[in-house]
Amino acid sequence: MRTVRRALRRGEPVFIFDSEDREGETDMVFWAPEVTPDHVAELRRTAGGLICVVIHPEHAREIRLPFLVDVYERADHPLLRATWPDDIPYDERSTFSITVNHRDTFTGVTDEDRALTVRKLAEFFTRNHEDPVREFGEEFRSPGHVHLLRPFDGLLEERRGHTELTATLLELVGLEPKVAVICEMLEPGGGALPREEAERVARERGAPFLTGEDILKAWKGGER
Ligand code: 5RP
Ligand code: CA
Ligand code: ZN
Repeated sequence: MRTVRRALRRGEPVFIFDSEDREGETDMVFWAPEVTPDHVAELRRTAGGLICVVIHPEHAREIRLPFLVDVYERADHPLLRATWPDDIPYDERSTFSITVNHRDTFTGVTDEDRALTVRKLAEFFTRNHEDPVREFGEEFRSPGHVHLLRPFDGLLEERRGHTELTATLLELVGLEPKVAVICEMLEPGGGALPREEAERVARERGAPFLTGEDILKAWKGGER
């Protein structure tokens, strides 16, 4: 875990492959406080999937970050009912939460804007807040161009997606705030990049490559 911590602290990527019996995808991960526009460009070019930010449950609870499905349920809109995600082929539950832009961004989608939103999200969770919900709203608008992912409170006990694997990894390496940007690795043709290929990318960059099993074992063993 020491090499993982060192990489994340230096603004270098870590790669996480979930498992063959789930998505079978590898996500490229950066620790949010270190994210620059170049990192966002790299996520677009080298990874190519959806750029999302994992907010550890400790932080997510502070701002009462909802699961999008709970918002849909309460909205009680027929279209939101009709599109209910009850047939996700690889999992039972989705960790998608709201999308946000920092209020200082322009459109919110440029590398510069997304990097700003990601870094400001990290910064927000390094400070104490009297009224976290109000203060979050003063800084961020929604909808935006950065997808927030809300891990389940029980982390790997409850779900073993990249969302929980990333939150668990941040916990294991002891970095604060526990906020990271993640993005799926796709191949040029658009399919998921095969694990061996993703491992090769990691090796070439001298970056750590972890599987869901590695993280689960470290978590169960209380490794730090
Ligand atoms: C958002 C996703 C990705 O799969 C991402 O890896 C997080 O989701 P999960 O926790 O389901 O792996 O759906 O692009
Ligand atoms: Ca997913
Ligand atoms: Zn995933």
